[in-house]
Amino acid sequence: MEPLKGLILSGGKGTRLRPITHTSAKQLIPVANKPVLFYGIEAMADAGIEQVGIIIAPETGPEIEAAAGDGTRFGVSITYIVQDEPRGLAHAVLTAEPFLGSSPFVMYLGDNLLQGGISDLVAAFREHEPDALILLTPVPDPEHYGVAELGAAAPGEVGRVVRLVEKPAEPATDLALVGVYMFTVAVHDAARAIEPSARGELEITDAIQRLVDAGMRVEPHIVRGWWKDTGRLDDMLEANRLILDNLIERIEGELIDSQVDGRVVIEKGARLERTMVRGPAIVGAGARLTDCYVGPYTAIGENCTISGSEVEHSILLTGCSVCDLDGRMESSLLGRNVTVRRGERQPRAYRFMVGDNSDISIL
Ligand code: DAU
Repeated sequence: MEPLKGLILSGGKGTRLRPITHTSAKQLIPVANKPVLFYGIEAMADAGIEQVGIIIAPETGPEIEAAAGDGTRFGVSITYIVQDEPRGLAHAVLTAEPFLGSSPFVMYLGDNLLQGGISDLVAAFREHEPDALILLTPVPDPEHYGVAELGAAAPGEVGRVVRLVEKPAEPATDLALVGVYMFTVAVHDAARAIEPSARGELEITDAIQRLVDAGMRVEPHIVRGWWKDTGRLDDMLEANRLILDNLIERIEGELIDSQVDGRVVIEKGARLERTMVRGPAIVGAGARLTDCYVGPYTAIGENCTISGSEVEHSILLTGCSVCDLDGRMESSLLGRNVTVRRGERQPRAYRFMVGDNSDISIL
C-alpha cells in the first residue's frame, strides 16, 4: 500500500461553542492545557504518518497555522488547505484532493479526541485493505451523530455496515460514527456523486453509504476506549476530565505555604501561595494563585491570576483573572483574558460586561 497521508478537519464555524469561537478556532481550545487539535496531530505522528494536511477556514486558519506551524515539533510535515466555506466533511475531502492525490488516508475531525490513538486502526487498515474503515461507538444520544446499522454477525464479531444516516431524528441504533475514518482513493468519486443534505452540507456519512451501495468493503470497528467530540461545553469539560485522569505528576513551579494532592502538574514559572490544589489538575506557566482552592478536573491556562477563590472542574484559558469570589466556580469555561471578580462598590449587585452569546448561570 502507498504511504498513508493524514487529513485533519479544522475548518467549520464552531457555533455551539460561542462566544469562545467568535474570536478563536474551536480546535484550539485547550484540553488539559493543550489545544484539542494537537492530540489529533500527535495521534497521526504516533501512527507513523508523515504528511498531514489540515483543512482550515479563511477566518480561523491563520491562528491555526500560527499554533501548529509546519509540523516539525510533532515530527510531521503539515500542509494547510483552505476551504472557502464549511460545506461539509465530504466537501472538505474534495477540497483536499490535490494534496491527497491517489493516496489512502486517515481523516480525523479536529475537534475529536480518541483515547489510545490510531496506530491499531492504521495497522488493521493496512492488513485487511478494505475500501474504507469506520469507527463506531455506542452513545446515549445517537441523534446528534452519524448513526450506523450493522448486519447480523457471529458472536464476538462485528456485522457488515448496512446503512449510515447523518443525525437521524429516530436513530435505528445507538452506534455513533466516531470522527476518525480511513479511506482509499474511492472516496473521492463517492464524495463527488452525493447531493447536499437537509443542512446543506456534503456529508461524509452519505459518501460512505455510497461506497456501501456500490458493493465496496467498508470495515466497521467498535471503539474500545473513550471518544469525545468536543463540540459542546459539557463535552469539552468531560474531555478535560478524561485527559487529566491520566496526568503524570510534575511540579516545576514554586509552592509557598501551599499544598498539592494527587495528580497535579504545576508548570515552570507558576507561583502558588497559601493555596491548595487537589488533582487531577494542571496549572499553566506563569500563573499566580494566592489564597485559593483548586479542585479536581481543573485546567488553569498560562498567566492566569486567581486569588481568594475556589475553582473546580473548569477550563480557564490564558490570561484569565478570578478574584475574591463568594462561592465556588465550577463546570465553567473561561475564554482568554476573562476577568471574574467580586465588585467593591455598594449596592451589592451583579455587574457584567460580556460578549455576544455568553452563558452565565447564577444561583
Ligand atoms: O464527531 C463525530 C461526528 O462528526 C459524526 O458522528 C458525524 O457523522 C459527522 O458528520 C460529524 O458531525 P458534526 O456535526 O459534529 O461535525 P462538525 O460540523 O462539528 O465538524 C467536525 C469537524 O470538521 C470540526 O472540527 C469542523 C470541521 N469541518 C466541518 C465542516 C462542516 C470542516 O473542516 N469543514 C466543514 O465543512
